[in-house]
Amino acid sequence: MHPGAPDLSSFPRAEWLKASRRALAAAPNEALGYGDPRGRHELRSALADYLARARGVHAHPDRIVICAGFVHGLMLLGDVLRRRGVHDIAVESYGLDIHWNILTRAGLHTHPLPLDELGTNPGELDAWGARGARGADGVDGVDRVEGIDGVDGAHGMDGAGGADRARGARGAHAANSTHGVHGAQGVHGNQGVHGARAGREGRASRAVREDQAGAAGTTGLPGRAERADKAVGAEGGGSSGGRAAVGAALLTPAHQFPMGVPLHPDRRAAVVDWARRTDGLILEDDYDGEFRYDRQPVGALQGLDPDRVVYFGTASKSLAPGLRLGWMVLPSALTQEVVEAKGSMDWSCGALDQLTLAEFLNSGAYDRHLRSARLRYRRRRDQLVAALAARAPSVRATGIAAGLHAVLQLPPGTEQSVVSAAAWQRLGVAGLSSFRHELAADPAASIDALVVGYGTPPDHAWTGALDALCRVLP
Ligand SMILES: Cc1ncc(COP(=O)(O)O)c(C=O)c1O
Repeated sequence: MHPGAPDLSSFPRAEWLKASRRALAAAPNEALGYGDPRGRHELRSALADYLARARGVHAHPDRIVICAGFVHGLMLLGDVLRRRGVHDIAVESYGLDIHWNILTRAGLHTHPLPLDELGTNPGELDAWGARGARGADGVDGVDRVEGIDGVDGAHGMDGAGGADRARGARGAHAANSTHGVHGAQGVHGNQGVHGARAGREGRASRAVREDQAGAAGTTGLPGRAERADKAVGAEGGGSSGGRAAVGAALLTPAHQFPMGVPLHPDRRAAVVDWARRTDGLILEDDYDGEFRYDRQPVGALQGLDPDRVVYFGTASKSLAPGLRLGWMVLPSALTQEVVEAKGSMDWSCGALDQLTLAEFLNSGAYDRHLRSARLRYRRRRDQLVAALAARAPSVRATGIAAGLHAVLQLPPGTEQSVVSAAAWQRLGVAGLSSFRHELAADPAASIDALVVGYGTPPDHAWTGALDALCRVLP
């Protein structure tokens, strides 16, 4: 039950094989060459369609770069940021040290932002001052996105007929070019490509605000004395007070990892505002944004400002981490540098898997797989919550109903003993403290909790794993 992987036994082998045969049969000979460092154009254009309709991302195939999972994308971005003269990057106070280490190896210092029940608090960004990510060469980071007219309307993926609706939407778009531009029905938080920015943000905020209601009081984090808008409403910024000036921020806005809280709408707006005021860059890790069980997913932060946000997606949760397939949607001003970094460093990401994923997306197999995966993981989460209520009433699952993991808040002082007891039962669970950044400040430090990957066990082992978990809980 270690968090991280989906149920690998449910990988859609037959469908993947079929897609792979079709993709290989249709592949031109040139696909077997070194190709474009951005990745296969078939996959980039399939992803542009998919990300627009499912995550509200403003994606154009030219600004998508395929990478070997999120970690590879982060390595590339770390390198580019460093070359642009960025030395310091804000991260969340809870997360994965593998990601922080990648940034450190790229030569960046990571600074944890405080976290509370409204998600990561970007107010500290202003205290650090401004250090733009555009580099000393004055490259303008605000070029308008080009050629995005073709981005289709975003139809939600939940419920029956998602893929059919998506195909229908493309058809409608072809017949009438205005359909696509109104976008985002079912993807809360983003409303089509041509909407005025202010309008987009207004609607986005409403949707995310509703979303936060679902998380209120369920985060396990200490309540806050001050309101979010006060906390994040700092104006002006730019005064570092002797502290390092941060040029970028790495966030998990849809579902903070591991705490499970979505970023409050005021904070979504505040972090974008910080990036605009300071030439900063936001790195959005949308690792499990497709898995939402109580409502339609909230759209990606990137939809608020595609010039300030690098969007990262991955197949590691939705399909399997072993595929090593991820994607970045880049601001246009950054694309060339990332492509050059990738082309000069490595040529990972095999063309055949890329073509297969493109076929998997275009054929609707990805949508079908996600629908059944959502049902599986939602059922497991419900069973976990019910088992806790019945067998461990002093423990509660916190965060929103989403993703493949849950944070189980424990009575104070019990985390280490529960983790050890679980290890004796040969049950892999992680203590929350192992996800804490070494420089993170209180108050969250005092929480005792487990991070449980309920998505990980195969179906046949799930009931036994849940039973073993309940036995070790206080
Ligand atoms: C927070 C977070 N981001 C990203 C990823 C995906 O990483 P990758 O695509 O490199 O497998 C994971 C997977 O466990 C994760 O937990």
